[in-house]
Amino acid sequence: MNLLRTKSYINGKWVTGEHTFPVLNPFDQKEIAQVESVSVEQCKTAIQAASDAFQIWKKYTARKRSYILKNWYNLQIKHAGELAQILTLEQGKPLAEAKGEVKYGASFVEWFAEEARRIYGDVIPGHQKDKRITTIKQPIGVVAAITPWNFPNAMITRKVAPALAAGCTVIIKPSELTPLSALALAELADQAGFPPGVINIINTNNPAGIGTEMCSNPIVKKLSFTGSTLVGKLLLKQCADTVKKVSLELGGNAPFIVFDDADVDLAVEGAIASKFRNAGQTCICSNRIFVQESIHDVFVEKFKEKVLELQIGNGKDKGTQVGPLIEEKAVASIEELVKDAISKGGEVITGGVRKSSISPLVFEPTIITHAQKNMDLFHQEIFGPIAPIYSFKTEEEVIELANDTPYGLAAYFYGQHYARIWRVAEALDYGMVGINTNAISTPEAPFGGVKESGIGREGSKYGMDDFLELKYMCWGGI
Ligand code: SIN
Repeated sequence: MNLLRTKSYINGKWVTGEHTFPVLNPFDQKEIAQVESVSVEQCKTAIQAASDAFQIWKKYTARKRSYILKNWYNLQIKHAGELAQILTLEQGKPLAEAKGEVKYGASFVEWFAEEARRIYGDVIPGHQKDKRITTIKQPIGVVAAITPWNFPNAMITRKVAPALAAGCTVIIKPSELTPLSALALAELADQAGFPPGVINIINTNNPAGIGTEMCSNPIVKKLSFTGSTLVGKLLLKQCADTVKKVSLELGGNAPFIVFDDADVDLAVEGAIASKFRNAGQTCICSNRIFVQESIHDVFVEKFKEKVLELQIGNGKDKGTQVGPLIEEKAVASIEELVKDAISKGGEVITGGVRKSSISPLVFEPTIITHAQKNMDLFHQEIFGPIAPIYSFKTEEEVIELANDTPYGLAAYFYGQHYARIWRVAEALDYGMVGINTNAISTPEAPFGGVKESGIGREGSKYGMDDFLELKYMCWGGI
């Protein structure tokens, strides 16, 4: 593979680290590569390089930054096939999904290449006769990005593209489980013509040490993190001492509500796509499926039919729709959830076990009916291919259940009655609501959560603001 790299990319150079660590294919646990792990000192070097490069990059015209971002976008599209292969190899998701992610990832680079030229300020009526007020937006400075293993490509571009478009420089620490997609993006960035130090990618299997440096180093002005709420809270605390601007895209506990006037086939299709995308390992996966009592049985029957059609296996094989989970502890955790649900009256109507004959990390797509609020999977982010189905009677009851969680990332509901649609959309305490659709992710829309699901928005015209400071100028003596 031409884009396979194992060193870190600091100040425009590929550098060796202090030791190496293996990257495994989750499907067969075979080693794909040994990747160099940087030291905390090397992380500091990368931060300094980004700081030096910031003095140059921020002075580029928006048009020139946009041009280089477009080069990067074009290279990602040109090499989409290989980027997808690397992604499936290290992450396990089906190749078709990996291709989708690469296109989705590139679309953020395209979008922010365009937005780079629209960073406007204001002219505000003055408060005294001789006064005029203006505002300008300026890049915040050096940005640290910590990205997850479930979308090893798109979660990088969704953070890095707006940062670069704004005029910031970046240090990216990808997950140690999936560093190869990040390094392939770095190789393409190198070819695209970014000046040295504008993009730096550091790998480590000591994420705590490097994370602490990124959060405490005063040169870093902003942290953008996607990952668990637990780690997000820790990083937020670590950023407090240097008062960094922080964007957090954390866990979810998405309700997927089907009202009695819904198009059941459409709802089933949406539930399948939303639940089993990436084997259930997305922050916006449906975590709790609520179906109104009168259509519960027909929904379950149709849903089961579709679940049984899902093809499980190796992501690289044609036709695979559900691949392995990322690592053993992920499988062990969902096994516990199934056990707990059964002990509290849940009924497994299909799946419920690993498919060891295929791979130790492949878990059968699972439906659990008679799901209840006292089960762990009501409260926890499942992050696996398990669909618990809850029955409900009234709109009030389901809104209360849906909001009964500290999370507030994505929610979905299906129904026809326009007044109820408006009421429910307003009542759901979530940052994103899919109405008769599960396909909510796109660069044009603001992605992000409320409550303990995060701070800030990624993508859309709002996504750039997180990387900009607003400066107010008061002009006197006019
Ligand atoms: C995520 O799981 O956080 C990302 C999902 C998406 O962008 O669709």
